[in-house]
Amino acid sequence: MGIMTISVRKAVPGDGKAIIECLNDSCNGSCNECVNKYACNNKFFPQDAMFIDKKLSMNNGSTIVALDKDLAVGLALFTVNKFSKTRHRAECGWFVRKSYMKQGIATKLVTALIKEAKKKGLKRLEAESAVGNEASLRLAEKLGFKKEGIKQKALMLDNGKLEDTFILGRIL
Ligand SMILES: CC(C)(COP(=O)(O)OP(=O)(O)OC[C@H]1O[C@@H](n2cnc3c(N)ncnc32)[C@H](O)[C@@H]1OP(=O)(O)O)[C@@H](O)C(=O)NCCC(=O)NCCS
Repeated sequence: MGIMTISVRKAVPGDGKAIIECLNDSCNGSCNECVNKYACNNKFFPQDAMFIDKKLSMNNGSTIVALDKDLAVGLALFTVNKFSKTRHRAECGWFVRKSYMKQGIATKLVTALIKEAKKKGLKRLEAESAVGNEASLRLAEKLGFKKEGIKQKALMLDNGKLEDTFILGRIL
């Protein structure tokens, strides 16, 4: 294993199952930091891969997947709201399997994601990250995202505690 064996490509319908497994493995079950609208604490809201496959076929964004041979080890995605005055911007997120973290995989993924967003003519990417999520904040800052503000009490943790998040913006 090593960064040299990792490739990145656009995800396609049919990758749903691999992506779910990857998302589940990027969470340690007691995470207080990650803002993930699809999975939390290894529990998927939509229970099956078909939901992800359907989203991948919708063409309202892009998902980039990192692969170690056939194993999905990380992903970065953005979603656009096409029919509105916010159609020039997209919300994004990023996740890497625990055993593959800190090897530059998210850097590779989000770099590819930014390139893809530019190619689609987007003008702005946004992300939201818990104020204590050092890995995510470092990654974002490194790739040109700026902290634009704080959402107070934006996350409710499993223990009921409320946590603030940063709004991160990347002008393209
Ligand atoms: C955030 C995440 C995707 C980073 O993935 P990764 O592949 O480990 O990131 P990279 O190896 O490309 O590292 C990116 C930068 O962050 C730094 N970094 C990575 N993990 C870190 C950590 N735990 N603490 C501090 N800095 C960290 C790296 O050193 C690197 O900065 P550098 O180039 O200046 O050294 C990964 O930690 C993850 O999946 N976390 C759980 C899911 C999550 O929180 N997603 C974000 C939702 S808002």
